[in-house]
Amino acid sequence: MIENRNGLIEMDYLEYPNFPSMPEDIKQEILRIVEETETESLDDLLINSTPEVIEWVKEAGNEAQESELGFTGQEVRKMFPGLVNYHFLDVSDKITEWVSTFVEEPVIHIQVMEKGTIVAPHIDEIRTSAYNYLLDTGGDASLHFYELINAEDEKWAQPQTFIPYDKINSVEETKIGTDVWHTLPTNKIHSVENIDINKQRISLTVSIV
Ligand SMILES: [Fe+2]
Repeated sequence: MIENRNGLIEMDYLEYPNFPSMPEDIKQEILRIVEETETESLDDLLINSTPEVIEWVKEAGNEAQESELGFTGQEVRKMFPGLVNYHFLDVSDKITEWVSTFVEEPVIHIQVMEKGTIVAPHIDEIRTSAYNYLLDTGGDASLHFYELINAEDEKWAQPQTFIPYDKINSVEETKIGTDVWHTLPTNKIHSVENIDINKQRISLTVSIV
């Protein structure tokens, strides 16, 4: 790990695409959408999508659910008591238009993590990587990447299941600041730790499927 020019720890897992900084009006638009959304009533993607995800995983040809490495559904609340509420919000045309000036046909969402301290170790469901841009870090939070301790477990690491800390080693850790485009390999096991329970971690995310 090395320090880059912004004083951030730079990891092997991350890249920093040369995309433009976010104009102030786009930031305000994102924050407006977050504020106006009744996040309490939104489906929590990580928790409520689990039955569908399990079906999807089965359809993808993996039958042995009982041997799955991680935890899904309500089980995760017991396993990981600090789990945030996670929201994946649609964006407006204005935001899409701006991102389209540097990414072709972008799939864009706003991510909000709140009312918790961690996004437990997982791999993403619908995408292999993402361009992320933080508008709020959610306090002194850090992003971690992990390797499985037992390489044999690899075949049981399913999307949107949470993987217990005793099965993995943290191999990279960074604190990404606001206003830095970074490419996140979301198909690697990753987590966010130490989010301030009284703050929101807010990012614009462009999915690469
Ligand atoms: Fe993720």
